[in-house]
Amino acid sequence: MRLQKYLAHAGVASRRKAEELIAAGHVRVGGKIVRKLGTSVEAGARVEVAGKLVELPHEHRYVVLHKPEKVMTTMRDPGGRRTVAEMIPKNLGRIVPVGRLDYDTAGVLLMTDDGDLAHVLTHPRFGVEKTYRAVVRGKLLAPDIKAFLAGVRLEEGSAQPAKVRVVRTGTGFSEIDITIHEGRNRQVRRMFEATDHPVTSLVRLRFGPISLGELKIGNWREATEKEVSSLRALANSAHSAEDDG
Ligand code: URA
Repeated sequence: MRLQKYLAHAGVASRRKAEELIAAGHVRVGGKIVRKLGTSVEAGARVEVAGKLVELPHEHRYVVLHKPEKVMTTMRDPGGRRTVAEMIPKNLGRIVPVGRLDYDTAGVLLMTDDGDLAHVLTHPRFGVEKTYRAVVRGKLLAPDIKAFLAGVRLEEGSAQPAKVRVVRTGTGFSEIDITIHEGRNRQVRRMFEATDHPVTSLVRLRFGPISLGELKIGNWREATEKEVSSLRALANSAHSAEDDG
């Protein structure tokens, strides 16, 4: 594979930016600086950008599960409840959930054996954007929406501002899309409770670049190359943020 394509797939930068990095002498292959565009990278070669190892995503596995309600986001449950491990084939290897969805929450759950990426994606400091579709009691009015935009007050301190969109309102309920980038325990449910609109159903529609799309409840698919590159790009930018202090 050509070096600039390798870097783009690894989520380092767009292909054009990758070419600039190469030309500027920031990229090493097998320990040597390579400035020639189109240099071929052999399988297993050590590629570094600014001194950091860059790996291709397909060395790991990334699975998107549409988790149903009443399933634990764990690989085993001592209480004998259904777990996400039972929803995927055993031959997918040692993949584990990235973060957690509540027992009663359905929707997008990423599972991977890429521990480094999982760590970054769940680290509160690098909050990945997540969108949920919530059905809540009552009608969400302008002051409620303002409260979400300002940061709903929770027991342990105010949540960061959340974006909300009213999808539809029916008799005694509202359907809301809410986007947050924190991952506190039962956060969405508690935010709606705090505004007197308890949640009756919750589905995660999106986790960063990964959307639920047409994936049927209880089904899984491999993440696309594009999704994995975007995840990697998020992780890489988080790492640089960490380096910058
Ligand atoms: N917020 C919740 O309340 N529950 C989830 O499962 C995820 C976010």
